[in-house]
Order: sequence, then C-alpha cells, then structure tokens
Amino acid sequence: MKIAIGNDHVAVEMKNEITAYLIALGHEVINMGTDSSERCDYPIYGEKVARAVADGKADLGIAICGTGVGISLAANRVPGIRAVVCSEPYSAALSRQHNNTNVLAFGARVIGIELAKLIVKNWLDAEFEGGRHAQRVKMLDDIH
Ligand code: RB5
Repeated sequence: MKIAIGNDHVAVEMKNEITAYLIALGHEVINMGTDSSERCDYPIYGEKVARAVADGKADLGIAICGTGVGISLAANRVPGIRAVVCSEPYSAALSRQHNNTNVLAFGARVIGIELAKLIVKNWLDAEFEGGRHAQRVKMLDDIH
C-alpha cells in the first residue's frame, strides 16, 4: 500500500521509526512531514497528508504531532478525509471497520513507539465492513 506520512517538529523521530516499520511491513511511504526539529506549524502537514490521500496519490495517511489532535483536525478539513486520532489499537481498528477512516493520527508526546506500531498495525489490518456503516459514512461525507 502507498502511505503518506506527515509530522511536525515534535514527531520527527517517531515519524522515522514508523516509516521504517511501514517499509518492513512491505508498504511504500511518501514522506510529507518535516525532517527538522525547528518549530513549525502542524496544520501544514495535516493538510499535506490529507490532500495526498484525497487526490489518490496515497491510499492512506498517517499524521503525527505532539498529541495527534491538531494534525488530525487539519486533515479533517479536507473533503473526503476521515481522520481519527488514536491512543489505543481497539479504536484504531474499529475506526477502519465502521468509519472507514483514511488518515490515522497519534501523538508523539502521548504514546511510545511500540504502542504506536501496534496502533498502526491494527489500523492497517482492519477492513471497512460496509453495509449499514457505508450509509453512515456517506452521511458524514455529506456534512459540509
Ligand atoms: C506543538 O507544540 C504542538 O502544539 C503540536 O505538536 C500538537 O500537539 C498540536 O496539536
């Protein structure tokens, strides 16, 4: 799968570790985040990841900032994007199965790297179940 990954200055190290993990799982990774520890603005990177997914340049996106909150809010402003901020794997998997999320966000200041990997794996392994959930997701996408 082609995965766009983006981050602000707080999450450079975690982005690098998650990138290596994704590559080890056999995915292609498009780096859209900063590689510098110089202070920057998370909305830029949330939007970049979201647009890559919305434009079909990536299948899915991963966005990391200090909490995952700001960058997920930015991603959710892009039409067609359903970004979820997760600190545990159960919600990550359910967010795919029921909500068809296409961007996963988490916080480098909130969770450690092993939990982050578990969340990523559970999110990627889960599949959208469609059916009644498809109607609800359409209702989400119809909100402008
Ligand atoms: C940066 O200090 C911090 O605000 C950012 O990484 C993120 O946590 C925002 O939601």
